[in-house]
Amino acid sequence: KDDLIILGIETSCDDTAAAVVRGNGEILSQVVSSQVKIAFISLYYVKADLLAKYGGVAPKMAEEAHSLAIDPVVQEALHKANLTERDLSAVAVTIGPGLSLCLRVGVQKARKIAGQFNLPIVGVHHMEAHALVARQCCLPASNVFLFMSRLIEQDLRFPFLALLISGGHNLLVLAHNLGQYTQLGTTIDDAIGEAFDKTAKWLGLDMRRSGGPAVEKLALEGDAESVKFSTPMKQHKDCNFSYAGLKTQVRLAIESKNINVGKYSNITVFPVPIFVLLMTTLGAKWAFQRVAVLHLEERCERAIEWALKIEPSIKHLVVSGGVASNKYVRARLDRAVKNNSLQLVCPPPSLCTDNGVMVAWTGIEHFCVGRFDPPPPADDPEDFM
Ligand code: KG4
Ligand code: ZN
Repeated sequence: KDDLIILGIETSCDDTAAAVVRGNGEILSQVVSSQVKIAFISLYYVKADLLAKYGGVAPKMAEEAHSLAIDPVVQEALHKANLTERDLSAVAVTIGPGLSLCLRVGVQKARKIAGQFNLPIVGVHHMEAHALVARQCCLPASNVFLFMSRLIEQDLRFPFLALLISGGHNLLVLAHNLGQYTQLGTTIDDAIGEAFDKTAKWLGLDMRRSGGPAVEKLALEGDAESVKFSTPMKQHKDCNFSYAGLKTQVRLAIESKNINVGKYSNITVFPVPIFVLLMTTLGAKWAFQRVAVLHLEERCERAIEWALKIEPSIKHLVVSGGVASNKYVRARLDRAVKNNSLQLVCPPPSLCTDNGVMVAWTGIEHFCVGRFDPPPPADDPEDFM
């Protein structure tokens, strides 16, 4: 297994990402488009410009950005790993769920490399990759220092419970084994990341990286009492989520105060009236983040109860997906999990948001049990999807 070397490609949403990972979990390279320059243009600015214009992901524009980024990102990943395509054992690529125009760019690139260099190809489910990357993080090769100092869990085995929280999905999944999952809960409308993004947009915050980090940055300093939001689905004693109602509460609170801090959000010394306005918006963000996370905690506690009835041997709750990089989310869920005598496993933030490592690692897991496709023909027709 240590000899395996897999390239992972991820293009399901707005980041073009690639990574090279070894079978023992060692990350040989990891690249996202915003770190790469082509012809003196930084792709960071391409993405920032698109997000600023559209306040979210516009499929056609995102596809163009992926097409621009895919070759340099994959090249950079191989270059950083000091390898060429000939050193690879297989290529793994996200095949869904996601924007089909965007997925296509990654799949085409993966098939091109696999066809040209006669490599097997592993199609990866994006959400499974968010969950399974937690197993890579618990291997000694992923970070020797953290492993030795016992700062990371030693070996994450099946079965475990996973909460996956991103821009498009909110899932509670019981992972029995590789490829065997029971869904305990999902969102009935919006995902939590979508609510973070819209809150940031309506408050006129800096959206260049995505809304979540912008809301997190200021949310902890706010006055919780200035705005009150109710927790979603209190009366539903299940493990499903709903964020559309909370989103509406935030929008109405903002509209009623006619708040927009966009112009001032980068200034450190505020004139007094703006300071007062800002305190109110901090209240909205704080209250929003607190209630959004309270909903997660409540659902997780019930899911742990359900999961223990089905799989009494579970010891871990994995929390992954973009929103899991939020420190308040991590701290609150850590508390909830410990109260139930389980351990929280959260990948480092760079592996929580979309990345190539999770795809490469999930590719490795499936490859090792023989789940992969043979190399496509070298003269692969363009239209295969
Ligand atoms: O997993 P991900 O990178 O992409 C999807 O699969 O959707 O998740 C992106 C989502 C975005 O909605 C973004 O606002 C949110 O994760 N996010 C955060 C934070 N970092 C990213 N939300 C809250 N706090 C953060 N620090
Ligand atoms: Zn994702």
